[in-house]
Amino acid sequence: MLIRPRRLRRTQAIRDMVRETRLAPSMFIYPVFVREGKNIIEDIPAMPGQKRYSPDKLPYILEQAAKKKIGGVLLFGIPEHKDECGSSAWDENGVIQQAIKISKKEFPALTVIGDVCLCEYTSHGHCGLIKNNSVDNDSTLEILSRVAVSQASAGADIVAPSDMMDGHTLAIREALDANNFQDTLICSYAVKYASAFYGPFREAAGSAPAFGDRKAYQMDPGNIREAVKEAQLDIQEGADLIIVKPGLPYLDVLKTVKESVYVPVASYSVSGEYSMIKAAAQMGWLDEKKVALEAAISIARAGADIIISYFALDLAGEFY
Ligand code: PBG
Repeated sequence: MLIRPRRLRRTQAIRDMVRETRLAPSMFIYPVFVREGKNIIEDIPAMPGQKRYSPDKLPYILEQAAKKKIGGVLLFGIPEHKDECGSSAWDENGVIQQAIKISKKEFPALTVIGDVCLCEYTSHGHCGLIKNNSVDNDSTLEILSRVAVSQASAGADIVAPSDMMDGHTLAIREALDANNFQDTLICSYAVKYASAFYGPFREAAGSAPAFGDRKAYQMDPGNIREAVKEAQLDIQEGADLIIVKPGLPYLDVLKTVKESVYVPVASYSVSGEYSMIKAAAQMGWLDEKKVALEAAISIARAGADIIISYFALDLAGEFY
């Protein structure tokens, strides 16, 4: 007798019924770039289709996120003023704080996540304070805590530290609690690799390091046990959710981390992953939507509970 797995693939209705992995709009987070200024919506050349918005223009894109009922938006601030210690990052009227306030005022039900990092705000483009030509972990913690508290005061539901300093989650948790923000969640970038896939983002956010690279604080692409260690440490320190980043090239890491923790795990499908698909689609070499959807289902199949993606708005509504 011939055993026939193909029977289950006969019709779309049956294929849909037996599918093992499903996507839903609520599992997607859309990253948004907010730059200082007024009346600005500008293209990001290395990320076709993505824009930088001034805070007053933000409602235009937030409305789409709210309508499509995606999980939330992840806001990145691009300030006018940069200095050695990234002081615009914790300015109560800074660009990210304005963006969070506008967002919570106009769309209170939309979950707002603030990116907590210094690289967009420092003149040297590193994610922490510089001492003796390298990033000083421990003095950076206090600054990151200030940034997180200022975002929580502006109304952020979740803060997402992407700096990769050791001990950042604990420092931020203690600062939030001390300022009465016990309910603000921390979604930590626990597992973040020193990846060349961040290239387009650095153009978008103007955050490329002025000297050196980020290999002293971001992870080595060859490592996977270290990912489990980083994830467990951040969870012990109080992370409510964790991020593994990048997405597609690190599915093995995502799966391994997912199997070793009991908090929701997000995968960040980063700028380079987006731009590769866009570029090939513009050349007529790939079908953009089909490839983006397949990438998303692959990330979910590997274990992501949440997918942070520049395709979030395009894909929401494509699933059913
Ligand atoms: C900031 C930060 C980066 C990204 C998210 N937060 C860039 C970096 O570490 O250089 C990259 C996101 C993307 O490429 O989409 N530290």
